[in-house]
Amino acid sequence: MEQLQDNFGRVHDYLRISLTDKCNLRCIYCMPNEHYDFMRNEHLMSPEEIESIARIFVAYGVKRIRLTGGEPLVRKAFPEILERLSKLPVKLALTTNGIFADKYINQFKAAGLKSVNISFDTLQPERFKALSQRDHYTRVWDNVQLLMDEGFKVKLNVVVMKGKNSDEVIDFVALTQHLPIHVRFIEFMPFDGNKWELETVHTHEEMLATIEQQYDIVKLADKPNATAKSYHVPDFKGTFAVISTVSEPFCSSCNRMRLTADGKMRNCLFATAETDLLTRFRKGEDIYPFIRSAVLGKAWKLGGLPEFEDHDKLMQQLSARSMIKIGG
Ligand code: 5AD
Ligand code: SF4
Repeated sequence: MEQLQDNFGRVHDYLRISLTDKCNLRCIYCMPNEHYDFMRNEHLMSPEEIESIARIFVAYGVKRIRLTGGEPLVRKAFPEILERLSKLPVKLALTTNGIFADKYINQFKAAGLKSVNISFDTLQPERFKALSQRDHYTRVWDNVQLLMDEGFKVKLNVVVMKGKNSDEVIDFVALTQHLPIHVRFIEFMPFDGNKWELETVHTHEEMLATIEQQYDIVKLADKPNATAKSYHVPDFKGTFAVISTVSEPFCSSCNRMRLTADGKMRNCLFATAETDLLTRFRKGEDIYPFIRSAVLGKAWKLGGLPEFEDHDKLMQQLSARSMIKIGG
């Protein structure tokens, strides 16, 4: 079978589909604070379109699909989209802020979802309010517990920022002692309007140094295309991992493609070029050649962005790269 291989021999078998650019939180590292025009409903891929376009990717070797956003659970058609995609021969996954997880838990089960990634950056309710600009700490934490009680594997995505929540790294590791939870510390990444500075990145190395002062940790084996480097403290129920996009990019093993909620393909989280699949699909065109050329146009590293150290140049080139639009 033909596979989606790029010019560097990387096989692309993982698709991340954003269902909406809307969100019910306003995390400071994600949403641009200035004016942002949300996508209009008629520009969003419908559930049928999502299914049909996903089927084309699957026909060319996609084995994993992750639903993202914005916040995927604020999309009204979420249950229908999930149900349609659950019929495909792929491993389905979901990244959510958890606010509506209780509402859709039966749909998660029916779709065969085994694991849910929840963005959760702090264990302090007041800080949650400051970081997400909304007061939903209790609701999200209750849903984290609910998902664990109901047998889901829960991964917590923690975006670590110096001076904001980097002092909680140890508390998150401590959480893995009694809970079967998987904490993933994500280095703070630059996106349009998120006030990123290299100095605010708490790196993989710095996190490990702090953790090792308190715990004897063991490195766990990582899957071939894993973005996270996994560890655990022996005898703890859970694990932790670090996603070191900034200090040690893992582009050489990248297998990921992205589809925005309005049906545009991006070959990298940091790419600005978009390939409009939806408009062509609506005209009845064969979109495979466009998918293929988007993959072939993929840069070796970081969507062709300048090095993170080159702050001014980086900032200039970040326009059109807002997280809410691309979907983590
Ligand atoms: N840096 C790192 N991670 C981010 N996310 C959103 N914005 C950023 C950023 N600037 C994370 C979210 C979510 C995942 C999809 O991406 O917290 O868990
Ligand atoms: Fe892949 Fe782009 Fe992320 Fe690198 S930065 S791992 S190329 S999506």
